[in-house]
Amino acid sequence: MTPPTAYSLEQFLADTRTTIKTKGMPSGLAEIREHLEKLLANPELLKKHLGDPVPYTDRTTIGHDPETDVHVLVHGRAKGNKSAVHDHGPCWVVYGNYKNPTRMRRWRRLDDGGQPGYAEVELQKEFMNEPGMASAFAIGDIHSIEFGDDTFFIRVTGGDVETKQTLKFDPEKKTVEVANRALGQR
Ligand SMILES: [Fe+2]
Repeated sequence: MTPPTAYSLEQFLADTRTTIKTKGMPSGLAEIREHLEKLLANPELLKKHLGDPVPYTDRTTIGHDPETDVHVLVHGRAKGNKSAVHDHGPCWVVYGNYKNPTRMRRWRRLDDGGQPGYAEVELQKEFMNEPGMASAFAIGDIHSIEFGDDTFFIRVTGGDVETKQTLKFDPEKKTVEVANRALGQR
């Protein structure tokens, strides 16, 4: 019996392109999440694109489709950390864990955004994004992440979120500020 061939990054980008063309966005987001879970099941993925042994990396882009402007990034963190509560500006994002889980929190904004610098957000949902699992965030969705040591996760973004302006929330202080990711703010 021939062993099944692992789902490659190239296949992922081709399938995602087809999804965007046939279903459009945001309708295709759930299907892209499924494509990413297939990609996460590829045991050679990071070795192939980052090297063997797989190095830690703050952020490495391993794939980009110019036609759809879909980016595939790998984050491999030696040390645990957590992010601020944030959105992704004009981008949609799918997060998939490759090694070790990420605690994922989804937040809901309660105010109407009419008062500059002010925002009320409440925790909507909290769950563990386990290895092999992907979670999709539509444009405007708000979340935060928290992970332990030796965690590798993949982010697929519609557009290059790292050149965009995004929103950063402080749930306790009830503040919101614009982060210009192109300047390294996040
Ligand atoms: Fe995010």
